[in-house]
Amino acid sequence: MTNLRTGVVGLGWAGTVHARTMAALPGIDLVAVADLDPAKHTAFPHVPTFGDLETMLRLELDYCVIATPSATHEAYALALAAAGVPALIEKPLAPTGTAARRIHDAFTRTATFAAVGHTERHQAPLAELARLLAGGSFGELWQLATRRQGPYSGRILDVGVALDLLVHDIDLASWLAREPIESVTAATRTLAGPYEDTATATTVLRGGLLAHHHADWISPFKQRTVQVHTAAGVLSADTVAGTLTHHPNTADPAPAGRFPGVQGGQARLIALPKQEPPFTVEHRLMRDAVLGASPRGLVSLAEGAEAVAATEALLTAAATGHRTPVPTRRLALT
Ligand SMILES: NC(=O)c1ccc[n+]([C@@H]2O[C@H](COP(=O)([O-])OP(=O)(O)OC[C@H]3O[C@@H](n4cnc5c(N)ncnc54)[C@H](O)[C@@H]3O)[C@@H](O)[C@H]2O)c1
Repeated sequence: MTNLRTGVVGLGWAGTVHARTMAALPGIDLVAVADLDPAKHTAFPHVPTFGDLETMLRLELDYCVIATPSATHEAYALALAAAGVPALIEKPLAPTGTAARRIHDAFTRTATFAAVGHTERHQAPLAELARLLAGGSFGELWQLATRRQGPYSGRILDVGVALDLLVHDIDLASWLAREPIESVTAATRTLAGPYEDTATATTVLRGGLLAHHHADWISPFKQRTVQVHTAAGVLSADTVAGTLTHHPNTADPAPAGRFPGVQGGQARLIALPKQEPPFTVEHRLMRDAVLGASPRGLVSLAEGAEAVAATEALLTAAATGHRTPVPTRRLALT
């Protein structure tokens, strides 16, 4: 079988990781890269370079990555959908829920496959956490809490920390709980501007589950944690340390209808499968989906659009001080 012919638009931090990952994966040839800034092309001296997508599309790509700033995703996405070229579009899918839905609708209309680059789902501790929760042995979910902190990268200029970072956790919460977000309360703070550099929010998922999120660009250290309270204790994923820990709840079961209470037991590290870089997992899934395998494991445009809609509601909630419903169209939560 011949290798897939692929391209990347946008050769900044994310685009460079995509391009290197694709060039290294069996079954994929990286045949084109494009960036507005010609200086970025020097990192790929053996790959044909383009200043625009239109010329690049003449190469009849099997799939293309969009890794430009979020505000520019829509124009490229619509061009790829119109040309029938499958796409992997970086998160956030778009800066607004309406733009994200337009992207979703364009690919649906032309029956072209596309996925969103919420790579966090492919971090080994989080993938294992999702697998354990789906298995059901940890019982009812009680609460979720995420923290995503670090210094400002200096790269993201078109959105604030909510759409840049917290959108990952909005996506993770819905995915782990397998429920959509229905409403959000939030507060943000802007120290440097023009967009918020701190965002804190509580979302309510269908069924009443609460998810608490904090993200900021103002911390001199990096922290990425997801805690899930379940009836069997807390599962705590740390993607900086690469660990998943179970803090068991050893309280005796209570009579039916009564809260069983919580009691601490001995924490244990859960063994994780060999950690592969999340971008490698993502492109293997993308390659196989383009070749006709199930897209299971990839993040659908519907899910990407819902994460943007919930984050947009978060920004509205922070601006108004009111709990804000998430106006999703229930596109399809897979
Ligand atoms: N999935 C992840 O873990 C992850 C990590 C980082 C960034 N991202 C996402 O990737 C996207 C890019 O972020 P980044 O950190 O790589 O930014 P970046 O600033 O490092 O790179 C953006 C690149 O796009 C180029 N560019 C800008 N406008 C363009 C246009 N109209 N056409 C072609 N090229 C253009 C710039 O010259 C630059 O090389 C964002 O959507 C971001 O949210 C995702």
